[in-house]
Amino acid sequence: MSVDTVPPVPEHVPSELVRHVDVIGDPTVTADPYGVFDRLGAEGPVLYSSALGGFWLVLGEAEVREAFQRTDVFSSYPTGVPPMAGFWPRKLIPQELDGDEHRRYRKLLIPFFGPAAIRPIVRSVEERAAELIAGFADAERIDFVESFAKPLPTTVFLTLFGLPVERADAFTTWSSDLLHAADPRVSAESGRNIVGYLAELIARRRRSPDGDDLISALVQARVDGEPLTDDELLDTCFLLFIAGLDTVTSQLSVIFHHLATHPDQQRALRRDPDSVPAVLEELLRTYPIVPPARTLTRDHELGGVRMKAGDTVLIGVSGATRSRVGGDDGSGDDGSGDDASRADRSRAASLAFGLGPHRCLGVHLARHELEITMRLMCTQAPPFSLAPGAGPRMRTAGNVWGLDSLPLVFGDA
Ligand code: HEM
Repeated sequence: MSVDTVPPVPEHVPSELVRHVDVIGDPTVTADPYGVFDRLGAEGPVLYSSALGGFWLVLGEAEVREAFQRTDVFSSYPTGVPPMAGFWPRKLIPQELDGDEHRRYRKLLIPFFGPAAIRPIVRSVEERAAELIAGFADAERIDFVESFAKPLPTTVFLTLFGLPVERADAFTTWSSDLLHAADPRVSAESGRNIVGYLAELIARRRRSPDGDDLISALVQARVDGEPLTDDELLDTCFLLFIAGLDTVTSQLSVIFHHLATHPDQQRALRRDPDSVPAVLEELLRTYPIVPPARTLTRDHELGGVRMKAGDTVLIGVSGATRSRVGGDDGSGDDGSGDDASRADRSRAASLAFGLGPHRCLGVHLARHELEITMRLMCTQAPPFSLAPGAGPRMRTAGNVWGLDSLPLVFGDA
């Protein structure tokens, strides 16, 4: 955007809070978004960025928690910074709904994501993860994102929807092209493919809703006594597609970048695979990948700052989680060894999946996917490190931070 077209900072924004933080295009941000947010967080819990149409950047822990929980003030529609209205013709269900409407639709999905319901999916994740790792057993070098982090979560999606795993490759490509293709025509084409496939699947399940998969259940579900329309079914299935695939891929990419560049911690995990859950917790705290967006429904004061109805807010989760108890090396050890500090860190880590009414429905599934991968990569794959010369940059567009590629080499570093 040229300087002439940058919108003026609104009058209600105090000038001392204004920064120009382009969270998508600025190379300083994409080189190290966590470091940039850490530095901004030290300047104040709430700042205003004049980039990308103007938005509040919320970085203090209390303020992040309030923005997540006060859904009467912080609406989930439209999603994204800049707002992504128009990305989808209607509101995505349940993510972009608010209040009672949100609760009614979310309730339909909850039974599919509890610990018992996901057991068969976890089994297929374990099998698929082992298969993918066996697939690169003899390789000296892989792109971890292409060879593992993209295909794994596709298995979850297919199992949840009762689909044959033969479609896995097509789904993986569609998901990645939709959200990250450099050419917008490729993204649009993938979007059409996904919607076409889901619409046909919904029609098929309407004709014979006899499976125990999520779509068979949704076509029989009722909201306020009425069955869901085809559009509502599509809005839900599409949201699950984008919420469940790209997030896991991205979280895996940043976690494995850390392990590839911290050989001591990787060695410790290999010696003690039982420490995976604790280390994962700490890595989630250190590298949360989703900074959700909100729009103010009315004037409101947050962290002593007056905001106005219609303002856009970016919830800078990492600002809140990384400010905890010092130390951000992902080792899970702040040196204090005390339980209160560990509980404190764990509470902060859980913010990686959001908080309040919109907290991630797939949190248990996602944690299993991440844990299984860490355990198997440390027990069934040889030691790995970042390929020489590889300097992967973060992609911060599209509301999910992650790496588009992660070249790894095998063998003791
Ligand atoms: C590491 C992986 C994941 C991360 C970091 C993550 C993170 C998040 C976050 C932060 C939110 C809250 C967004 C907001 O407040 O606006 C969210 C919502 C959601 N997530 Fe996840 N997620 C992950 C994986 C998954 C998976 C595997 C699924 C399903 C298969 C899933 C389904 C959802 C759904 C349906 C919502 C919307 C909930 C609502 O609006 O009520 N997520 N996720």
